[in-house]
Amino acid sequence: MNNFEFYGPTRVLFGKGMISKLSDYIDKNQKILMIYGGGSIKKNGVYDQVKKALEGYNLLEFGGIEPNPKYETCMKAVELIKKENIDFLLSVGGGSTLDGTKFIAAAAKYTGNEDPYDAIVRTDGKNVVDALPIADVITLPATGSEMNNGAVISKLETNEKLPFHSEKVFPKVSIIDPSVTFSLPEKQTINGIVDTFVHTMEQYCTYDVNTPLQDLWSLGLLRTLIQEAPKVLKNPQDYDARANVFWCATCGLNCWIAQGVVEDWSTHLIGHELTAFYGIDHGQSLAIVLPRLLKNQLETKKQKLAKLAKEVFNIQESDEEKAAILAIEKIEEFFNSIGMKTKLSDYNVESLDAAEKVKDRFLKRGTKIGEKGIIDGNVAYDILKNC
Ligand code: NZQ
Ligand code: ZN
Repeated sequence: MNNFEFYGPTRVLFGKGMISKLSDYIDKNQKILMIYGGGSIKKNGVYDQVKKALEGYNLLEFGGIEPNPKYETCMKAVELIKKENIDFLLSVGGGSTLDGTKFIAAAAKYTGNEDPYDAIVRTDGKNVVDALPIADVITLPATGSEMNNGAVISKLETNEKLPFHSEKVFPKVSIIDPSVTFSLPEKQTINGIVDTFVHTMEQYCTYDVNTPLQDLWSLGLLRTLIQEAPKVLKNPQDYDARANVFWCATCGLNCWIAQGVVEDWSTHLIGHELTAFYGIDHGQSLAIVLPRLLKNQLETKKQKLAKLAKEVFNIQESDEEKAAILAIEKIEEFFNSIGMKTKLSDYNVESLDAAEKVKDRFLKRGTKIGEKGIIDGNVAYDILKNC
């Protein structure tokens, strides 16, 4: 097992009716900015629940954070925060709203002269010395943003989508009420399930450094997802299934399963480019890349894939490589079985066009990703041309 340092400062309030506890954790003397997305919270009653929980608070609002949150929009919130002397941010929405809020929290405290995207995002958070405190009501199970220190921010002007990390942007309090997900469009439910699956794969499916406990946690997440996904899709109002899926999503990226293991994240970094170039949803981009990337990197990943074949899909195949290939097929079958399409052509994108664009960008940036740092522009090209 590799050495590790774990830090998880977020208080999680999980379950029905938990939004009403917001006031237990937010000081009434603070001036709060509530940040939300395109308006789903006004249709499903979450907005009303939050307003009721914070009755009597000094609460301003900023709406309009888009899916794949844009730097340009976030900077408008920063302006408002400076004008109104806001002390505390409350994100109410999906991962995009929370990621946007994390960037806003850091940008509001940034005092340097550089463009905040360059200073905060391009440096992966190195210049974040302070941030406004954040609480959130998370409404979509997918990103784990409610319990981690990461955010992914897009910049319209340069057509980029990049992640940053800083322990200053861990939410102080996250409220997860699975019943708020009853209103999710089916596509978003599916996106979230796939995102969670792939987060787990990025942390589990690399090379073995003798971490049997972490491996079983990860494999348990995958098994639970495969078991619960059909239930939420069949009956979107199934509270227990929604709760199980949400907790999988949170645990899939709250850094717990990552401790002591070797991580990958190349499916995500290639997927982000598909979103930046073609507007493909985050979950969809991962479903397209993962199967082809696993095949391309089979040599490094076959041991863990063979273990997954046995533990998750009950495949009894003694030849490691054959078992690994069967596991990849089963993963793609699972994605397809829940209605997720896994080919670029399903999204009207030419694989060679995507391969060329990403190759160019990675070679220019000097990108080298994956657990062995061997996926560069040329390898990304080979992966994408088969997508
Ligand atoms: O904007 P509104 O109107 O709220 O509607 C949203 C949006 O249209 C809607 N929605 C959310 N909760 C709902 C709901 N509709 C009805 N009922 C509800 N309860 O769903 C749509 C998608 O929302 P979004 O927040 O974009 O989805 P998600 O949570 O999947 O977030 C995706 C973003 O997170 C980033 C992705 O790259 C992408 O930008 N990621 C963040 C990570 C992190 N912070 O650690 C890790 C992930 O790998 C991921 O990269
Ligand atoms: Zn993701």
